[in-house]
Amino acid sequence: MKESETTPRNPEARRNPFTPTFGCIPPELAGREGLIGNIVEGLENAPGDPNRASVFVGARGTGKTVLLASIAESAEALGWVSANVTAREGMLGEIVVQTRKKGGHLLRPETLSRITELHVYGFGFTREVGDAQSTWRSDMTDIVQELNEAGTGLLITVDEASTKSAELGILVDVFQHFVRERRDVALLLAGLPHNISALIDDDATSFLRRAFQHSMDKISTSETAYAMKDTIEGAGRSIEPKALERAAEAAEGYAFLIQLIGYHAWRQSPRSGTISEEDVEGAIRFARRDMERMVLEPTMRDLSPREAEYLASMLEDESESLVADIAQRMGIDANNATQVRRRLIERGVIGSRGRGRVGFDMPMLRGYLEE
Ligand SMILES: Nc1ncnc2c1ncn2[C@@H]1O[C@H](COP(=O)(O)OP(=O)(O)OP(=O)(O)O)[C@@H](O)[C@H]1O
Ligand SMILES: [Mg+2]
Repeated sequence: MKESETTPRNPEARRNPFTPTFGCIPPELAGREGLIGNIVEGLENAPGDPNRASVFVGARGTGKTVLLASIAESAEALGWVSANVTAREGMLGEIVVQTRKKGGHLLRPETLSRITELHVYGFGFTREVGDAQSTWRSDMTDIVQELNEAGTGLLITVDEASTKSAELGILVDVFQHFVRERRDVALLLAGLPHNISALIDDDATSFLRRAFQHSMDKISTSETAYAMKDTIEGAGRSIEPKALERAAEAAEGYAFLIQLIGYHAWRQSPRSGTISEEDVEGAIRFARRDMERMVLEPTMRDLSPREAEYLASMLEDESESLVADIAQRMGIDANNATQVRRRLIERGVIGSRGRGRVGFDMPMLRGYLEE
């Protein structure tokens, strides 16, 4: 729910508008206008627009879930029906349930009553896999056809996409047929880089090789500042220009940090009408602690000893490292080093800095490792 839709119990107590919670839509989205605009344009266009099959790739906390949710909102404002699921068992059934809820009034009564019966589209114990699959496909074909005849498109968003979900393979296959039949449909997936590259390599979902890939790039400092300022002012306070600049820079273009820093800055001197530089300095320290606990520690835990060693050997350089130097420091050959580097890049931990160079991509990670 948007902050503005709730009435504060005590109007004097200004509520903290920042949302440092995964999956929570912030009051102001920083820097995703272009991405959202592209997809919306694709929906307004005719079937065949490449934006209608899109994949968003980004590390933890870059704002994928929020992006999918806000595109779904825009799509619904355009009159599309949207079904928004997370890739896991039961998602095919969930898509039908949501489509029925939101677009049921556009479906023929027979179709509506058929899909209202309890269907287990996944791999239940009574039904054969192939059977469930073809039932889902024919139900969805009817649904899409009837929605399209009523002048409405169907958008499906799938969060946390990975090869672990067999149902995702079925969805992609059926979607591919819809595209071929030039139906008004769109499919947006979001996932972590290593999961998306595995999906693209997988033959069951090879159709995704032709989908548009959008990476969740760093958000610019100016867009970050703009969103922070609007969020603060929208909730009834202001921020000193210097403080805003410092806060925006410290967020390093990382969506989750924008919320963390904003949140802590807000709570430093809640009685003051203006957030000061001192408030922001304090906030950055709190934000760092939360980042460690919620992002950096879990990320490091997921790495192999080799990968951790690779990062440690990057610390010897000021900012960027030459991959050749790292291999030498680790005493491994270039091939092995390339493998390790690729996995670290796929995890969003480091990034390429042009020919033969890498640098840290995950915000605050360098400082954390140095400690
Ligand atoms: N464009 C944005 N501007 C400002 N804050 C954002 C933006 N997008 C997301 N956020 C905030 O960043 C945090 C992470 O967002 P989200 O949950 O969408 O990330 P994610 O990429 O889905 O992470 P995960 O991979 O862990 O699922 C949330 O606190 C959210 O409010
Ligand atoms: Mg998410």
